[in-house]
Amino acid sequence: MPVPWWRQTVVYQIYPRSFRDANGDGIGDLDGILEKLPYLADLGVGAIWFSPFYDSPQRDVGYDIRDYRSIAPEYGDLAKAERLIDEVHRHGMKVVMDMVMNHTSDQHPWFVESRSSRDNPKRDWYVWRDGRKPGGKAPPNNWNAMIGGSGWHHDARTDQWYWTQFLPFQPDLNYRNPAVRAEMLDTVRFWLDRGVDGFRLDIVNALFEDAEFRDNPFAWKLIPSDDDPRMLFQGSDRTLNHPDTLEFMKELRAVIDAYPGDRFLVGEVNAPIEKARAHCCDGKGLNLVFLFRSLKARLDPATIRRLVSEYDGMFPDPLLPTWVFGNHDRARRISRLGGDVAKAKLNAAWQLTARGVPFLYYGEEIGMVQVPIPARDSQDALVQNLAWVPQFVFDAIRSWMGESINRDECRTPMQWDATANAGFCPEGVRPWLPTPGDKDGRTVADQAGDPGSLLSCYRRFLHARRDHPALGRGDLRMIEAAETGEPVVGWRRSADGETVAVLLNATGRSRKVRNPAPGGSLIVSTDVDRKDAGDAELVLAPWEGLVIGAS
Ligand code: GLC
Repeated sequence: MPVPWWRQTVVYQIYPRSFRDANGDGIGDLDGILEKLPYLADLGVGAIWFSPFYDSPQRDVGYDIRDYRSIAPEYGDLAKAERLIDEVHRHGMKVVMDMVMNHTSDQHPWFVESRSSRDNPKRDWYVWRDGRKPGGKAPPNNWNAMIGGSGWHHDARTDQWYWTQFLPFQPDLNYRNPAVRAEMLDTVRFWLDRGVDGFRLDIVNALFEDAEFRDNPFAWKLIPSDDDPRMLFQGSDRTLNHPDTLEFMKELRAVIDAYPGDRFLVGEVNAPIEKARAHCCDGKGLNLVFLFRSLKARLDPATIRRLVSEYDGMFPDPLLPTWVFGNHDRARRISRLGGDVAKAKLNAAWQLTARGVPFLYYGEEIGMVQVPIPARDSQDALVQNLAWVPQFVFDAIRSWMGESINRDECRTPMQWDATANAGFCPEGVRPWLPTPGDKDGRTVADQAGDPGSLLSCYRRFLHARRDHPALGRGDLRMIEAAETGEPVVGWRRSADGETVAVLLNATGRSRKVRNPAPGGSLIVSTDVDRKDAGDAELVLAPWEGLVIGAS
């Protein structure tokens, strides 16, 4: 049976507002993306995930949708989106749309109607509830939102509370209402009919809450961690990962499976790994879930070995892990690696050779770093929601958590060239977020023609992955440390009779190792000057990663 395309693809995430501004208004647009498709096709990615470009008041940069079936006018229109889908296909890539099913904007006509009166026909499309006391004095129960603090908001007009899992202007849809479920499945079909190949599902583990509105239990947990969003001493059993959400994942899967051409679903499930995996429903639910432990993983042999074995073991066929090192919510990986390009190359070698689907975040391939933006200038609604928090507290949180909570810092314009606006928008126009004054060679123009650049390294690994089925979709067996000698970490991948060996030197010293594939030919290395794969022994440069054809 042919292997579905998404099992062997690499997904590239575009944040539309920041990718390329073709009409010179300081924000990215669909024409800008169209212009850059040849760049992405040449880079060698297989699919593009677009963060939302639907009609939206843009208070959460499109994650607050006002109309699921039209396009924000500042980005384009529906005809332009249809053309974009076709053009991506024509360039040999697939389209992944971001589907925000949990909530809408508070300016969505459904919510405007819903909040207008208790007996409006759309009232039950959202989660409304009486407080424990009248007059807005006590919320219905103790439920906290995913971002901390009560997720209940009192609406004086009808003296009831509406529930939000995220920000107050993102009211949760009521999935216990069959009309809501039917409408959202139809929305998915609307885009499938237009040729979309897959969906990234925003905070999808939040769709259903406890039907009886029982309190969440106490938990010994103050601060959220990468794979566990519980905080402020509250568990989340009643508001996240509900069994009814898992059931709905199967319904959603049936909808996409009814279409030809292997469509797929990847879910954002902020939860411990077992709970995230549960949304795959033993192969009958989501095809993939994002795994976030890699975001902050240390770049050392022991960590790489542990994470690769763990992900591989927990996601056996037909499941498949994902490899995520950055996105529009989290600090850029290279900034966590001290801006070190050699380390970023090794990280790319890890991400693009392990078993699973890699997700690249725009700009990662040229080593774009976090751009410091003070909280008072932030356009991020999460930060604005905390407007009362003084800057020094933000700074303290930054150094404590190792990253800023100001998401603007990882969302700055793509750096196409070294001019003031980075080739994102014309000079003289003010881009919606700043680009760094000194781009320090972190641009496409600087790196495209340089074989030793990070961009060229990504391109070589992406092409190797595409050309070698073992790398693209093979199974994985760890190479024991005893076989090569410490501390190099490696694995073998095999498919269609091809086997390759991957070796990563995640240390800053050169290492002489026994060759696990003696006589094999060199497929690709982070070190562009490497000419061969050695013999019985082989010396890896500091932070070098390579792939050898083993048979
Ligand atoms: C997800 C998105 C994030 C957004 C939130 C609410 O976490 O990745 O950007 O703010 O959901 O939709």
